[in-house]
Amino acid sequence: MTRSGAVWESMLDQSEQRAVTRRVRYGADYNPEQWPRAVWEEDVRLMGEAGVDLVTVGVFSWALLEPKEGLYSFDWLRDVLDLLAGAGIGVDLATPTAAPPAWLSARYLDVLPVDRTGVRYSYGSRQSICICSPTYREKVGAIVTRLVAEVGDHEAIEMWHVHNEYACHVPYCYCDHHGRAFRQWLVRRYGSLDAINQAWGTTFWSQSYTDLDQVVPPRMTAAVANPALELDYKRFCSDAFLEEFLEERAILKAARPELLLTTNFMGLYKPLDYFRWAAQVDIVSTDNYTDPATAEWQMRSAMDYDVVRGLNKKVPWMVMEQAPTRVNWRPHNVPKGPGHMRTMSYQAIARGATGVLFFQWRASRKGAEMFHSAMVSHAGTASPVWSEVVALGKELAGLEDLMSAPVEAKVAIVHSWPNWWAVESPVQPAGDLSVADQLFWVYRPLYEAGVTVDFCSPDECLDRYEAVLVPSLYLLSEPQAANLVSYVEAGGTVVVSFWSGIVDEHDAVYLGPYGGPLRPLMGCDVLDVAPIPVGETLEFQWDSGENGVGDFWADVLAERDGQVVARITRGALSGRPVVVETTYGRGRTYYVGCRLGPNALAHLFARVPALRGKTSVQPGSGVERVVRVGDDARYEFLINHSAEERKIDVAAHGLELLTGMELGSFVALKPAGVAIIRHAGIAPLRRTG
Ligand code: GLA
Ligand code: GLA
Repeated sequence: MTRSGAVWESMLDQSEQRAVTRRVRYGADYNPEQWPRAVWEEDVRLMGEAGVDLVTVGVFSWALLEPKEGLYSFDWLRDVLDLLAGAGIGVDLATPTAAPPAWLSARYLDVLPVDRTGVRYSYGSRQSICICSPTYREKVGAIVTRLVAEVGDHEAIEMWHVHNEYACHVPYCYCDHHGRAFRQWLVRRYGSLDAINQAWGTTFWSQSYTDLDQVVPPRMTAAVANPALELDYKRFCSDAFLEEFLEERAILKAARPELLLTTNFMGLYKPLDYFRWAAQVDIVSTDNYTDPATAEWQMRSAMDYDVVRGLNKKVPWMVMEQAPTRVNWRPHNVPKGPGHMRTMSYQAIARGATGVLFFQWRASRKGAEMFHSAMVSHAGTASPVWSEVVALGKELAGLEDLMSAPVEAKVAIVHSWPNWWAVESPVQPAGDLSVADQLFWVYRPLYEAGVTVDFCSPDECLDRYEAVLVPSLYLLSEPQAANLVSYVEAGGTVVVSFWSGIVDEHDAVYLGPYGGPLRPLMGCDVLDVAPIPVGETLEFQWDSGENGVGDFWADVLAERDGQVVARITRGALSGRPVVVETTYGRGRTYYVGCRLGPNALAHLFARVPALRGKTSVQPGSGVERVVRVGDDARYEFLINHSAEERKIDVAAHGLELLTGMELGSFVALKPAGVAIIRHAGIAPLRRTG
């Protein structure tokens, strides 16, 4: 008895709103191939006890499914699927292509990737793959076709899971297959060798190409390679993986078009342009392993989820993997604290996840991940993890009615992968500029004020947002800039930071004062840039008379048509503007010429209603707040990540869903406490407006 029809509601045909599932899916990666048959029965019984209703099967089972070239063995998999179906547990069936078997790599060396220095990787792990190898592609086609033919119509299957964490360990291969495919990609993109030379500015350092075959991947060179070539190589490699994904997808979709299809992303992961990828899946899924030993890890995890939710705003998303407690692949693996498995699962649900799954179901006895945490650990059901797993499963089963409520986000942060690739190049004025840090810089105060943001590509329509933040969007095409400009013209508010609008899509500088097509939004002229020595600050004064500090970077700004709202007070740039406000069309912009310190950023955000937040959540209190808005109710999530009890005023009376209690004016949350307050009858904006 498969549950797919009952659980996933019209996933594929809703264009206005993300499709939903009626309840939060709960489960894990399940690797029965590591265990004798008797354990499988025990597994299925325990899954029932834990409320597990979705497991990912088959991720790394190529060597078992095809033990010899062309010789297949699917009985064991059918057996697993039968067992799961019998227990009403849905299956997210994976193609096994992330770990080619030893016979394949040993016989066809060209399936193995080659690094920048020309060294070929060996096999004996996973992901030792040259994605452009024709042999690999042919063998993938064969095993995926066979998988579909053997078990594709099994009633247990709800979803297709293609490959695993594309580009995870070897994002760039530099072999001759890649060279050939890169040249074809370039011809498709540019049309001619002349156009390639033009785009890359190859007259610099005598790099002009006179024959297409001279163009090779950016292998080991004496000094830095051409940055435009490096940028195109990153674009190409992301596309090469995507092309292979689409081949697998085509085989699966041809057999069962009605099943949801996904591949697990890795959140804010640099090598793959997930905006392009997410357009090709029915449900976005992600793996989240934010390190609990990192400062502000809950906030970083929240940002990762907001990035993932924004990748494709028309489809649902889910957590495909998270660690129940700790991983084993960092040098020192700190576990999540008691209750954090629950708080972090609710963080995902608050931010719209339709499922929270773990890696993995049962801890391995052997292999590279034998000390990774699991739902069933080595100590078995006696482990404290198990009680948390069971309790969470029970609780999630009761959360049906909020699943169709979208996350409320009136602020957007603009992010783009090509920008990420280009701006973190070693040729930059500040080679230590980190895109993740820049995003987190503007994300932090909003998270702390309970203001939820969507992440958007510079290509998408931004009309639905009240304010848009543009941190260091160095690479911006003219159409992308026009998108931002027209958003402001129509009445939007934009905050643009330093080092934005510097180059076009070929990494060529827009001449004149910096900013190129974004200059209408800047209100001042960026004449030059001056990174600040590490440990030093930039001092300035607001128009209100208060002092402020920034660090990392200073623009050399000249006044133009905007209004100076902060001016530098010390040093070589004293007297120059550092924050400039401009009205443009019906909208407003703020240009920020340095990295404002936390207080200064709060000072700036206080000028913009949408960035202020109207919440009683105190910045620094460790309480996370997110709202989901349903047709007839608002759901306010409050999660206490701090080690203290917190009393939080709630906006209106409501029913707390986890305890069933009616709340008056406040809620008290213990450490690791969670409240979901249903405020009924508050008509959402999209209905009334
Ligand atoms: C050296 C080289 C120049 C140029 C500069 C940059 O002096 O000779 O071609 O690369 O470094 O600082
Ligand atoms: C990734 C992989 C899993 C497993 C986990 C361990 O997310 O997809 O196969 O290796 O990491 O944390």
